[in-house]
Amino acid sequence: MNTFLHSLPKIELHLHIEGTMQPELIFSLAERNGVTLPYTSIDELKAAYDFKNLQSFLDLYYQNMQVLLSEQDFYDLTWDYFSRVAAEQLIHAEIFFDPQAHLARGVEIGTQLAGISRACQEAQQRYGITSAIILSFLRDMSEESALETLQAALPYREQFIGIGLDSAEMGNPPAKFRRVFEQARALGLRLVAHAGEEGPHDYISEALDELKVERIDHGVQCITSLPLTERLAREQIPLTVCPLSNIYLKVFGTLQESTIPQMLESGLKVTLNSDDPAYFGGYMNDNFEAVQQAFGWNKEIWAQLTRNAIDASFASDIRKREMSAQLDRYLARCS
Ligand code: ADE
Ligand code: ZN
Repeated sequence: MNTFLHSLPKIELHLHIEGTMQPELIFSLAERNGVTLPYTSIDELKAAYDFKNLQSFLDLYYQNMQVLLSEQDFYDLTWDYFSRVAAEQLIHAEIFFDPQAHLARGVEIGTQLAGISRACQEAQQRYGITSAIILSFLRDMSEESALETLQAALPYREQFIGIGLDSAEMGNPPAKFRRVFEQARALGLRLVAHAGEEGPHDYISEALDELKVERIDHGVQCITSLPLTERLAREQIPLTVCPLSNIYLKVFGTLQESTIPQMLESGLKVTLNSDDPAYFGGYMNDNFEAVQQAFGWNKEIWAQLTRNAIDASFASDIRKREMSAQLDRYLARCS
């Protein structure tokens, strides 16, 4: 089954590009940019990858991204991601980045986007991987900061497809960002938000009702509300679930204790993704393998999850049809 999973065409809809920065790259960028890290070796840095919860991860994640300063740094980071996932049969990726975290160090949004999008274009040329970039606001910052960031990003409007909401969830409800999502919607941007990762199921309903998001990132707490679960099933709202992330951030003790099987049984439109693969035990294949080991699913379930991801993506209709045809050809070969 792992052979089937490794060669299965994959679509990733929940991926923070800063969360793909491997310890080796952190050290080499620190050296290139003369940034002093609070770790003397890669092993010492890796030893810090032991998280109690989302916040303890975020503290390290924001610290490490301080090595990203130039367009080339953002390119190298993004290219490293594509070169790894090309070997895992990734065919389409929708990539978050956190502009406010880099603006705080004086790195312009244009610089950030130029590096990321150059790697995206090269990934399409070299590997045939299509992609889109989603600008994600930090929910522990103010809405004013998010509004300013959206304004600063507008000259680069053609380089990103939508906006998202990430960072510390507890105490930062979606409704705090109503105006910025309203403005983005008026601009024709696609809308997503992290909700119900650690936070309560109410944040999922709020993201749908107040922010009008089209997908929920994580959403694994939905199962604590039957009316919400029924709504998500009825409206077929896509949920970008990240299995290994949930274990590394102690959302669940083990995959067996996760809500993923109940979500599937409830008819929810689940997709599987890696979130921050350099921090959470691996990329798409590692997530798929861990899930397969926990649940022993059949090929039909994996095919359905892949169809869900194609359907939930922000790719063009033509590209969606191409990806569906590629999946069908693969399944026919494997049957
Ligand atoms: N930023 C990067 N990874 C995140 C996650 N899993 N939840 C919230 N914000 C994030
Ligand atoms: Zn995430």
